[in-house]
Amino acid sequence: MTDQHIADQHQPLVPNRTVWLDRFGDLDVIALSEQPVPQPVDDEVLVRVAAASVNPVDWKTAAGEYPPKGEDQLPFALGRDLSGRIDALGTRAHNMLSVGDRVMAFIDQDRGAQADYVVVKAVELVATPDGIDDATAAALPLAAMTAWQGLFDHGRLEAGQRVLIHGAAGGVGHLAVQFAIWKGATVFATAGEHDLDYVRSLGVERAIDYKNERFEDHATDLDLVYDTQGGETQARSFAMLKKGGTMVSTLDPDEDKGRALGIRTVPRWHAQPNAAQLGEVVDLVAAGTVNVAVDRTFPFDHVREAYAYTRDEHPRGKVVLSMTGE
Ligand SMILES: NC(=O)c1ccc[n+]([C@@H]2O[C@H](COP(=O)([O-])OP(=O)(O)OC[C@H]3O[C@@H](n4cnc5c(N)ncnc54)[C@H](OP(=O)(O)O)[C@@H]3O)[C@@H](O)[C@H]2O)c1
Repeated sequence: MTDQHIADQHQPLVPNRTVWLDRFGDLDVIALSEQPVPQPVDDEVLVRVAAASVNPVDWKTAAGEYPPKGEDQLPFALGRDLSGRIDALGTRAHNMLSVGDRVMAFIDQDRGAQADYVVVKAVELVATPDGIDDATAAALPLAAMTAWQGLFDHGRLEAGQRVLIHGAAGGVGHLAVQFAIWKGATVFATAGEHDLDYVRSLGVERAIDYKNERFEDHATDLDLVYDTQGGETQARSFAMLKKGGTMVSTLDPDEDKGRALGIRTVPRWHAQPNAAQLGEVVDLVAAGTVNVAVDRTFPFDHVREAYAYTRDEHPRGKVVLSMTGE
């Protein structure tokens, strides 16, 4: 043993089922494997996970697409966000936290959230208020940070500005729409036909059917485009921006095109864990200002089905795995 301070030996109540990737491929590589329960060291906390969400990055990573990882980095656990209860504390994590506290977190890429037990740094945790259930708490972190940081840190969105949000019924988009409206922006939003009424209900100026309408006909003179699609959708959106407007994309931004048109184009970025920002979002959710759409919750044992549903079935908002069956 080194100079690290480890919590008292912890006796887990259940095996530590983990979405453990040992090869890249289609969804047949998604499976549960029993892994040792990690021990919290120093300022770390062991969380008994109640729920974890499935994000597009999970199936992209499993396919070996993104983020780029080599075979030499296998095996590793998947999942970026979780909710649950504190199960054990590292010896330096006692200040503000107690065993049994309900928490949520957005964790780094080098760990996996889709497991019965996950070790998290104490500073990464945000308390889950009584009024927010575990599925909602697990649905929030990655998508909320992507929406928040894209709009406000990268997009510099301000009250009174006009913003077009693509993919407005998706995991990221439905939160981006609500954050932008909360900020006082006028929001134009694209979504599939089946989601238009839902997106209208969020309070947008215009919900645009991305298959049957041209967004160019309904959203002009924009300060910001928040793109979640890339490709042709992003390319066509540049012309909707005012000169000096901003293009933010969650995928690959075309910086050359932005430069040619006098559009500020944010270079490729990735949402980062930020407990202070997540705490602000949690306050908005607890106050009922922002609603988190959980399309469906799957029992953890049905993880492959949950991945397939997320990728192929056009969910509205988020898809969640439940470890505890509650
Ligand atoms: N950079 C980062 O840090 C970061 C973080 C999170 C996510 N992302 C990426 O951002 C993207 C969105 O993530 P997400 O979690 O919101 O995905 P999601 O939940 O799958 O949502 C995507 C939404 O886009 C809609 N859509 C499909 N084609 C469209 C089009 N041509 N025009 C407008 N909307 C369209 C879909 O509607 P239908 O139901 O009709 O298909 C769906 O509602 C993903 O590619 C993800 O990998 C990046």
